[in-house]
Amino acid sequence: MKGAILQYDPAYLDVERNLAAVDGLIDSLDADLLVLPELFAAGYFFKSSEDLRSVAETADGRTVEQLKAWSRDKNAVIVAGFPELTASGIYNSAAVVSPQGLVGVYRKVHLFYREKELFQPGDLGFPVFDVKDRNGEPYRLGVMICFDWYFPESARSLALSGADVIAHPSNLVRKDCPRSMPIRALENHVFTVTANRVGGEESDGELLTFIGQSLACDPAGEVLCSFTREGVGVETFSFDPKTSRNRDITATNNLFGDRRAEVYRLA
Ligand code: ACM
Repeated sequence: MKGAILQYDPAYLDVERNLAAVDGLIDSLDADLLVLPELFAAGYFFKSSEDLRSVAETADGRTVEQLKAWSRDKNAVIVAGFPELTASGIYNSAAVVSPQGLVGVYRKVHLFYREKELFQPGDLGFPVFDVKDRNGEPYRLGVMICFDWYFPESARSLALSGADVIAHPSNLVRKDCPRSMPIRALENHVFTVTANRVGGEESDGELLTFIGQSLACDPAGEVLCSFTREGVGVETFSFDPKTSRNRDITATNNLFGDRRAEVYRLA
């Protein structure tokens, strides 16, 4: 099947401009799975909780409805970040949509820097979703958002729950993620798809510069496709999610079978 990553430069708080920009960039999309960045239509470095509230939406709001329309139109599963408005506060979430509609939502577990002042920490764990490629072949899709990569437990939890592919919408500012994702893929024997943004945003005199360098990795830790720091557009890659499932390392070793959960320290 074919995966796709969109990397671009969203405009702060300008949801309509951002949806129109993405619409143009994916005009000729030909892929089974498309991953967009974290908070892809909203902007990231919110100057106030009022600014965040002005773009927060429920999971049946403008942004997710647009994702569903793209998914139907392009016949692709889409994973994309949005600020999710709920009765218990605003979450930094990602929606998974298929041509049939909303498959599910993931809420970012590990909040980065000033996100802690604005968002609720994710309360849905690390769910894994059942989806299909364009030939009707089922595969299992996990989601983590940006800074979750820093905690190996995120990708491990998803892999242990059966994810073949980890979609990773991001707004990366730290340089270490692009060289760490091949290891996350290798140590869990999964595909990873990191969609980052470019550009910069300023709040309270502080500038955050987003590092681009989106990338997809295979279960051997090889990079299947990657962007530059500045690149804008869609890159695609071919892969077979099923090939993640055989975790034999040698004739007598298996990545999950050889785990010694009883000797690991989790807290
Ligand atoms: C991040 O988690 N957006 C750095």
